[in-house]
Amino acid sequence: MKMDLFTWMTFLSLCAWCQCINEDFVVVTIATENNDGLRRYLRSTKKYGLNTEVYGLGEAWKGGDMQGQGGGHKVNLLRRELKKYKDRDDLIVMFTDSYDVVLTSGSEDILEKFRKLDARVVFSAEGFCWPDKQLADKYPEVKLHEKRFLNSGGFIGYAKDVYEVVSHGNIENTDDDQRFYTTIYLNVKLREKWSIKLDRRSEIFMNLHGALGDVMLKYKGAHSFLYNVKTGTVPIVIHGNGPIKPEFNRLANYLADSWTLGSGCLSCEEDTISLQGMKDEDHPLLMIGLFVERPMPFLREFFQHVSALDYPKSRISLYMHNSVELHQRELKSFLLKHGQEYESLHIINPSEQVSEVEARNAAIEKCIKKSCQYYLNIDGDVHLENSGGLKLLMQQNRSVLAPMISRYTKAWSNFWGAVSSTGFYARSEDYMDIVGRDKVGLWNVPYIGGVYLIQGHILPALKGAYTAPGLDPDMALCLNLRNQGRFMLVTNRDWYGHLIYYDEFETSHLHNELYEILRNPYDWEKRYIHTNYSQSLEKESKIEEPCPDVFWFPIVTEVFCDELVEEMEHYGGWSGGKNDDPRLAGGYENVPTDDIHMTQVGLQDDWLEFLKKYVAPLATRVFQGYFSNPPRAILNFIVKYHPERQRELRPHHDSSTFTINIALNRPHVDYQGGGCRFIRYNCSVTDTRKGWMMMHPGRLTHYHEGLPTTQGTRYIFVSFVDP
Ligand SMILES: *[C@@H]1O[C@H](CO)[C@@H](O)[C@H](O)[C@H]1NC(C)=O
Ligand SMILES: *[C@@H]1O[C@H](CO)[C@@H](O)[C@H](O)[C@H]1NC(C)=O
Ligand SMILES: *[C@@H]1O[C@H](CO)[C@@H](O)[C@H](O)[C@H]1NC(C)=O
Repeated sequence: MKMDLFTWMTFLSLCAWCQCINEDFVVVTIATENNDGLRRYLRSTKKYGLNTEVYGLGEAWKGGDMQGQGGGHKVNLLRRELKKYKDRDDLIVMFTDSYDVVLTSGSEDILEKFRKLDARVVFSAEGFCWPDKQLADKYPEVKLHEKRFLNSGGFIGYAKDVYEVVSHGNIENTDDDQRFYTTIYLNVKLREKWSIKLDRRSEIFMNLHGALGDVMLKYKGAHSFLYNVKTGTVPIVIHGNGPIKPEFNRLANYLADSWTLGSGCLSCEEDTISLQGMKDEDHPLLMIGLFVERPMPFLREFFQHVSALDYPKSRISLYMHNSVELHQRELKSFLLKHGQEYESLHIINPSEQVSEVEARNAAIEKCIKKSCQYYLNIDGDVHLENSGGLKLLMQQNRSVLAPMISRYTKAWSNFWGAVSSTGFYARSEDYMDIVGRDKVGLWNVPYIGGVYLIQGHILPALKGAYTAPGLDPDMALCLNLRNQGRFMLVTNRDWYGHLIYYDEFETSHLHNELYEILRNPYDWEKRYIHTNYSQSLEKESKIEEPCPDVFWFPIVTEVFCDELVEEMEHYGGWSGGKNDDPRLAGGYENVPTDDIHMTQVGLQDDWLEFLKKYVAPLATRVFQGYFSNPPRAILNFIVKYHPERQRELRPHHDSSTFTINIALNRPHVDYQGGGCRFIRYNCSVTDTRKGWMMMHPGRLTHYHEGLPTTQGTRYIFVSFVDP
């Protein structure tokens, strides 16, 4: 279309006219506190370009605790503030609550719907008659799916009429505002005088209490909205009234285009800060609180992750509460290595008998006293493997923020998507999507635990927050945060690490982690499986073959070798290499070694898992067409060679299809001599490698002997697979 000057001018003046219509609409709200809820509300009104006035900020709230009746203060504040509009017949005012409200569209939409309702004043409606049930019969009847009763959390109307309504008669600050408006509405004369209607079909206002089942989140491109499946409307003012704040918070994670199916998280980059290029000494002062409250596997790695966090240690004040004597070992070695580097240290040892709640509360106090700018809580089961994670959290700039972490490959995580009416865990519809990172973003949730970053400015409000009767400290903290209306956000925008599975952790051994292959497979692998293990599984890789059909693989770490040997020496029950062996079914061993069986130290099942997971794939790789799955092995044992005990082993076949033999220490260093000779090929492997495994057929072709150890002690690990 060609546009001539005249069309252009009409177009421009039309624009000016739209502008002027927009100016005739104002959204007003009451908020005495500038809290997370208000910020969320204002984000939405700003997003839709709504002219918004907040009344009462910074004033003392006199309307009660809002758990029951109250709120008259709101009416009185409106009376005071709306006076300036009392003669405006050309201005439309919309009042909404704010802490539990989000808007999902702009003025054009709102005004169009208002005009369609054909009233001077429209109140929002709900399904409960409150605060006075007795009045239910006085309300006009409604059609199926319509809401019959007035809710005072939202109304819209011509300024003049709205002012007259809020100014009608007296109301005390502590009186109930809903009762006030209800009385007016139920008075037919007044109702007609101001032409008051209820928004029964939720054209504009959606009160969610008792109506969560009426709505559905929907998306359209980069937009999200609530659809009322009962009335077919798309309401704009979404109100989490009554006791459904957690559910409302969950919906609000998506509303006002915060997160949409098509575009993901659209609010995540808002209000973020940057630490880039900041000098060490300029970093905010951070206190890290570490809490080990129960026996915890892989604590050595826990400390490694803490010390590896990318943040100047000179700006970290470290606070630690350890209640487990056993873990003093890992704690001490961590402090020896890194203790000096921190700005300050405060360690509470088990002997001090400080309870978990006391310690956690004291950490907050200490942080306040030090004027720290951030407090990071890390519990002993949290492995923050992403060393950049701490800065990512800080840069997100949210007052309480937890990185989402879960147990490896499990749905068990450090947040709840919902909370039951009794205050305990409940699963939300989107929980699995968040844990699985199918939906990525920032999520306002009712519970976080294990690891979270709190901005210093809210710490004073959290003094003693870990205390609540009958609740664990983490649940107490979250309850207090919820009651204070503070948002707890969890972010899964990045990967941060994982949680350790600590249930059933057995602490009767010297190296308890050796026993965790089934419960914490990921951590077990990281500590104990050779970094180059998987190279041997690649099709093109060349497998070393030091003697014919004797294959050689890196399989376990040196740490594994050391811990296993130490565990055996700690147990100490070496067999002495006698022919009579009560451990065997027949009671007799033809070619005895000086050994300890895995069954004796409770590692048999763990070892079978090791064979299945790590050894069987290698066997398949070198013995074409042989599938040992799962491998069977009755005899799995550590052999000890020593010049003054058993020094060698005479030639023999093994009772196995194939045998594995892992070197647990170093020739020429830990011992002299030793090795294995395959007689048919006159071929010996003497330069064995610690952590490497030999694999060879057990019978017929691989008649072999153990060569004499002439000095020191040689340890090997042997399994007879598929006997
Ligand atoms: C950080 O967040 C606060 C609100 O919590 C906000 O006032 C401030 O502007 C944010 N900082 C930046 C740089 O956006
Ligand atoms: C793993 O293999 C690489 C070469 O492929 C080698 O440089 C490295 O030292 C090996 N790692 C260990 C722990 O032996
Ligand atoms: C076996 O090998 C050794 C050295 O590798 C050699 O000295 C010896 O003669 C060989 N024995 C036989 C029987 O081939």
